[in-house]
Amino acid sequence: MAKIIAGIGSSHVPAIGAAIDNNKMEEPYWKRVFSGFERSQQWMRDIKPDVAIVVYNDHASAFSTDLIPTFALGTATEFPPADEGWGPRPVPVAKGHPQLATHIAQSVILDEFDLTVVNKMEIDHGLTVPLNLLCGKIPPTGQWPFPIIPLAVNVVMYPPPTGHRCFMLGKAIRKAVESYPENLRVVIFGTGGLSHQISGPRAGLINSKWDKSFLDNLSKDPKKLTRIPHLEYMREAGAEGIEMVMWLIMRGALDDKVDEVYRFYTVPASNTAVGHIILENARKASGTRKVAGKSKRGSAGKSRQAAARKSIHRIASKGTR
Ligand code: DHB
Ligand code: FE
Repeated sequence: MAKIIAGIGSSHVPAIGAAIDNNKMEEPYWKRVFSGFERSQQWMRDIKPDVAIVVYNDHASAFSTDLIPTFALGTATEFPPADEGWGPRPVPVAKGHPQLATHIAQSVILDEFDLTVVNKMEIDHGLTVPLNLLCGKIPPTGQWPFPIIPLAVNVVMYPPPTGHRCFMLGKAIRKAVESYPENLRVVIFGTGGLSHQISGPRAGLINSKWDKSFLDNLSKDPKKLTRIPHLEYMREAGAEGIEMVMWLIMRGALDDKVDEVYRFYTVPASNTAVGHIILENARKASGTRKVAGKSKRGSAGKSRQAAARKSIHRIASKGTR
């Protein structure tokens, strides 16, 4: 049986991608941002997921005002980077996982979440920047370390889905993953945010207090977050702060009680407050695998998770939080 072992929240600021692509990571402005992800990259190398579901939003790259799916699941074998105006980012084509993706589509649609199935799709910074932050810079000739299932959410044109709907979709995704017969260790990303507003009289708005309270509740009391109305996101976190509803899909796919193993917050990158969190399901839920009566991969899965925790705790105790 497949399992969701952890959730990762990360901002997806496009300028972070440009800093990576133009080798500016050592400049003090950018080093402040990237240093917060060094431990996360070690955690990712240790935990070695078999597949990642990445909840993100398309920024008029794959879709336009011609077509606005609320939830669009990528079932293709691969997803090339989109041309976002300066050509496609020099990152690898993301390999998909069509078998698991189509299984998820069937399961959640039969559970009455009418998502759009996308058999051909390009992906933009909304997905590639968080992947870089967690996996490092990878040349276009290389490969992302795991297959990726993109789930694009409309947070660009009114009306976006509610936080509650997102949270419930996360639960349906978890149920879908857990009914997949192969023993896969799955992580789920929630991306975007945190507070930011890109245009209009309030351009540049950042609300650290609200962001931090969102992260606290994401960890401890996510149901409280599901009651936040769109207007509150707009008022408190800026027009683009609504991207944060995507983190609730990730959170809905996890246990009610999770271990927050890492958190990082810095202001700003470009116009945006950068937030990052790693939440793990209880260790007992990870990697246990019975094949022909024998436990395979279970102990390997557990020790990977233990190693990942060790590296992250070493870092967290140095006080990045
Ligand atoms: C910025 C942030 C985003 O999330 C985005 O999609 C575009 C721009 C910014 O901070 O400039
Ligand atoms: Fe965005």
